[in-house]
Amino acid sequence: MKVAVVGATGMVGQVMLKVLAERDFPITELIPVASARSVGKKVAYKGKDYTIVSMEDAIAATPEIAIFSAGGATSLEYAPQFAAVGTTVIDNSSAWRMDRSKKLVVPEINATSLTKEDKIIANPNCSTIQMVLALAPLHKKYNIKRLVVSTYQSITGTGVKAVQQLENEYAGEKGEMAYPYPIHRNAIPACDVFEENGYTKEELKLIRETQKILDDRSIAVTATAVRIPVVGGHSESINVAFHNEYDLSDVRKLLSDTDGVTVQDNPDTNTYPMPIYAEGKNDVFVGRIRRDHSQENTLNMWVVSDNLRKGAATNAVQIGEYLIKNQLV
Ligand code: A2P
Repeated sequence: MKVAVVGATGMVGQVMLKVLAERDFPITELIPVASARSVGKKVAYKGKDYTIVSMEDAIAATPEIAIFSAGGATSLEYAPQFAAVGTTVIDNSSAWRMDRSKKLVVPEINATSLTKEDKIIANPNCSTIQMVLALAPLHKKYNIKRLVVSTYQSITGTGVKAVQQLENEYAGEKGEMAYPYPIHRNAIPACDVFEENGYTKEELKLIRETQKILDDRSIAVTATAVRIPVVGGHSESINVAFHNEYDLSDVRKLLSDTDGVTVQDNPDTNTYPMPIYAEGKNDVFVGRIRRDHSQENTLNMWVVSDNLRKGAATNAVQIGEYLIKNQLV
């Protein structure tokens, strides 16, 4: 496979290269792409240096697969140009996620809907992926009525600039700000920009993308997304109300049996998921699984995952693996 990685110098792009190498993705030619200012620079892949090329050169090379992590505007402009030359684009941005003609894919949940005709495939938002992976088996069995989610999100989701801001603040140095406020020793209850209804875009992604991936618009979702000075992954407090009665031990078993989910839940040993331990791993970790006694058929849980991995790179690479395995590219 000729594979283009668009945004190869970025936070997600770098993890993408790592995940592609770790999983031994069948690459015959790697085409790293970044903005004009990076063309000619090198990125490392499997111990070799590769020269970054321009978008135009990458399109001219007609790769079978292009994995995009270069922001929404770049995807909107260039994904169709890749698709026009026959490339299948797996796009990490929010540009195509809610487009009715595009599939929004978490492979463990809905990859079977993919066909050869899907030339632009959307990778969901990082916070959404980890939440729906844990919810999908529970929804199937107990039918989710309503979700209340609060997120505690890693700064790596904002990109290189945010990591630099935190490092500058640790060191007591002035520098470019990725956020309108200091992030060191802070919690910023605003991820992405505000919409007119008072919610942030990140919160609306959690709402709309969840309904699309679980293919159920009747699920009521409300969300509060908060940025915290953490780098290893996103954490989420999720309150789930089901239509049906559930059994707590069955919930644990369903989660333990789900591909890509690891249950870490034992109050006696202080076992629960945390971002410093999720960092660098591909799984979604679930703990603090307990009944919400304030309301019937309702469950609380705590879900943590490396947002650059399952929340972005790993999920995109898994989509690519599915396409290859099923001869869809
Ligand atoms: P560059 O490093 O040349 O700016 P992050 O979100 O971590 O900041 O990374 C964004 C990624 O998207 C980087 O690899 C960046 O390249 C790339 N990028 C930004 N704008 C464009 C563009 N117009 N064309 C191609 N790549 C882009």
